[in-house]
Amino acid sequence: MQKVIIAVFLSFSLAAAAAAQETRVIELKKPQLTKGKAVMTALNRRQSVRWFDKRELDLQTLSNLMWAATGVNREDGRRTNPTAMNRQEIDVYACLKDGAYLYNPQKHILEQVSAGDCRVLGAPVTLAIVAKEELPNNYHYTDAGYVSQNIYLFAAGMGLATVARGSMPDGLQDTLRIKKGYKIILNHPVGYPNTDK
Ligand SMILES: Cc1cc2nc3c(=O)[nH]c(=O)nc-3n(C[C@H](O)[C@H](O)[C@H](O)COP(=O)(O)O)c2cc1C
Repeated sequence: MQKVIIAVFLSFSLAAAAAAQETRVIELKKPQLTKGKAVMTALNRRQSVRWFDKRELDLQTLSNLMWAATGVNREDGRRTNPTAMNRQEIDVYACLKDGAYLYNPQKHILEQVSAGDCRVLGAPVTLAIVAKEELPNNYHYTDAGYVSQNIYLFAAGMGLATVARGSMPDGLQDTLRIKKGYKIILNHPVGYPNTDK
């Protein structure tokens, strides 16, 4: 009997270890809080850009981007983006070359959700703004808009290109493994502008 219990315990431990290994995690770098153009210059440069260079974003720039979109900016866990009643019902996913990741703002890490490629318009990174549909007055749409504007202003301040898109690529829901009750509101390709266009 004891041998059976040990065997069952071992097989559960091995399965748990295998599952843990499959979840790739990207540890992001601390955001660089003094980088970028002044806010008035960023506002003046904010625009939608739809043509991207193939150049990858480095880890520091990706880290700054995720934090700007919806990072924790206060000790009480509040974020760079406001949410109605502080529900924090918005998730931001990052589509990268090697798969789709969910941003964990508390840990400032990206956790892989699938190996699919959900990037759009040839950009090296595409963010997806996803909301839990639970708020009265459709506030989750408003809240998604603040995240979008954070991304726009970050891009403008850093010399990057981005555009908010309501049109979604096929299969995005599956690639992101969207949780029940959640909806993709916008996708945001981000990268260096293609100046040939
Ligand atoms: C909610 C929303 C959805 C949008 N959807 C798309 C889209 O699907 N495709 C696209 O190319 N641009 C999309 N845009 C970008 C707008 O076309 C763009 O903001 C508008 O033309 C004004 O240009 P500007 O951002 O450069 O000021 C969207 C913008 C918003 C706010």
